[in-house]
Amino acid sequence: MRVVGIAGSPRRGGNTDLLLGEVMRGAASRRAKVKTIILNDLEITPCQHCDGCLKTGRCKVEDDMQMVYSDLRQADRVVLASPIQFMGVTAQMKAMIDRCQALWVRKYILNLPPLGSKLEKKGLFISVGGRRLADLFEPALVTVKTLFRILDITYAGELLFPGVDEKGAIAKHPDALRQAFLAGQKLVEG
Ligand SMILES: Cc1cc2nc3c(=O)[nH]c(=O)nc-3n(C[C@H](O)[C@H](O)[C@H](O)COP(=O)(O)O)c2cc1C
Repeated sequence: MRVVGIAGSPRRGGNTDLLLGEVMRGAASRRAKVKTIILNDLEITPCQHCDGCLKTGRCKVEDDMQMVYSDLRQADRVVLASPIQFMGVTAQMKAMIDRCQALWVRKYILNLPPLGSKLEKKGLFISVGGRRLADLFEPALVTVKTLFRILDITYAGELLFPGVDEKGAIAKHPDALRQAFLAGQKLVEG
């Protein structure tokens, strides 16, 4: 069982990083092979809408996204972690998501499995936001669920924590990190 965790925050050791770390630790404790990708450390050019992928389903832009495609193909479980920025996922995460347009082409134009395999993949979403608005996570949830649907990744749930702003504040939450660890275990079981 391979789990890829994709960290979308620019803040190393920040709140979503801490949660993602626990999810991955939980998955590893159940013998999953885990890999974490830090988007902020990568060069991922935003989609140029060049239509270069339209005939092949392959993005022509040769940057670090090529490695992310490969990791997504190999993963049985995908964990996306992004804080809320301006009511959505971070720019780092959105750039990665938009580059999945090439996989949309594979599925809807070329009639191919978007990630090359028909084996079931599952996905989890982790997010925090500084405010406590009722609809704080709604736009990000729509984006992430759309991505998972297009990639044929079954939505396995989410961990969402509002009212978490300062770097590392999630560690003071009574059980968020524990929830994350257990979610990581559950994700790879069964
Ligand atoms: C550019 C920017 C935009 C933000 N926009 C929002 C927002 O729309 N709503 C909100 O609740 N928090 C917002 N925040 C606060 C972050 O979601 C919050 O600080 C979060 O804990 C950061 O998580 P991290 O440590 O994983 O990066 C924003 C922060 C930044 C830097």
